[in-house]
Amino acid sequence: MASDTLTIVDNRTGKKYEVPIVDGTIRATDLRQIKNGADDFGLMTYDPAFMNTAACRSAITFIDGDKGILEYRGYPIEQLAEKSTYLETSFLLLTGELPSKKELDEWVWNITHHTIINENLKGLLDAFRYNAHPMGKLISTVAALGTFYPEAKNIFDPAIREKQIHRLIAKMITIAAFGYRRMLGMPYAYPDNDLSYPGNFLNMMFRATEVKYEPNPVLEHALDVLFILHADHEQNCSTNAMRAVGSSHVEPYAAVAAAAAALYGPLHGGANEEVIRMLSEIGSSKNIPAFIQRVKSGEGVKLMGFGHRVYKNYDPRAKIIKRVAYEVFEVTGKSPLLDIALELEKIALEDEYFVKRKLYPNVDFYSGLIYQAMKFPMDMFPVLFAIPRVSGWLAQWQEMLQDPDQKIARPRQIFVGPERRDFVPIDKR
Ligand code: CMC
Repeated sequence: MASDTLTIVDNRTGKKYEVPIVDGTIRATDLRQIKNGADDFGLMTYDPAFMNTAACRSAITFIDGDKGILEYRGYPIEQLAEKSTYLETSFLLLTGELPSKKELDEWVWNITHHTIINENLKGLLDAFRYNAHPMGKLISTVAALGTFYPEAKNIFDPAIREKQIHRLIAKMITIAAFGYRRMLGMPYAYPDNDLSYPGNFLNMMFRATEVKYEPNPVLEHALDVLFILHADHEQNCSTNAMRAVGSSHVEPYAAVAAAAAALYGPLHGGANEEVIRMLSEIGSSKNIPAFIQRVKSGEGVKLMGFGHRVYKNYDPRAKIIKRVAYEVFEVTGKSPLLDIALELEKIALEDEYFVKRKLYPNVDFYSGLIYQAMKFPMDMFPVLFAIPRVSGWLAQWQEMLQDPDQKIARPRQIFVGPERRDFVPIDKR
């Protein structure tokens, strides 16, 4: 008779154990009863980099990596990219449902009316060197932002939590744009509440002397679509950081700063920047075969923007971004790196090395080309990823706080260091 259990025989002792299988998983703590003697701590699992460990139950984002499916709260990413806006999508991620007209109006109003940052924060931004990386500035400024809202530590008060969520989503674009303008020595451009969220960001980034900045509607829409695509991606490195740091019950600004720090790395949110560097280094289509050869030779060169821990198929976000890229190029003119990217993708998708390893373009392969065409400097690319991902981080953080299964994140280890020994005085070493 079939049963939803797993029978384990410990060949060290001959003992038999039966552990329940729920949702295709066994509880790692159920293995603790499997002991090799009275002093034994109990069996653990060893899973560096969480290759096969579910760390939470989540109702936010669904990914089928083999089929290339991505859904937020059940809605396919393709439909959201076509029909929704980033702010509507952030409401969906955070609340679980699409908003009514009234709810959406309120949500947009609340976020629009929290975009201004305390003037004292400008002093912090001014303290950075002119060439400081925008991601370093973003991480520090978000952490500093929390010090302005001491009430934010009341993380189990839903109203206080909601206020911080409005503030964080709203102020991300202001902090990002102010950091950019500081780099250029341009005066800060303040938010314009008549504009949409992406339009306002473009305004704060690029407004010069015009009295009223009018974003190009194609670029504004493209940015909104990119924000939707980047809003959440279940348990990736930065979301895991958000949950792990948030599990200590710290206020959300510090946890978002930690998540942003995780996103900064070249294997995560820094990859789109690396793609442009790689394409520029390749320089011409004729150099592609030699570059592919270097990647395959195992000398540590990676084809940036390719491969994914979860997707073993074309990343569905990459398909949408490729289409958006063409819309943007209609306005900005084609990026000279596009032809190299297209050719590189074509060759890689046919090459046995990449086929065998199921390495397909990911979200970062084309997004950098769009950002570059829109005149964002390369250093800003991971910031453009962080802005919308804040919605996902906050949705995951809130879910974690409300999950009775969760506790402070605290993995185990297998100790491989020296056995106990006595301290040796320095003259005897
Ligand atoms: N170029 C060349 N070879 C690769 C690449 C790549 N981009 N990605 C993976 N491989 C190879 C890897 O060397 C390994 O080969 P072998 O089996 O011979 O040792 C095999 O494919 C499996 O790779 P892995 O490193 O075990 O895969 P992972 O799940 O640990 O890493 C990844 C996933 C995204 C870190 C990796 O694919 C990578 O470094 N890609 C380039 C960076 C990149 O584009 N990152 C953006 C990810 S999407 C945005 C995000 O979510 O942050």
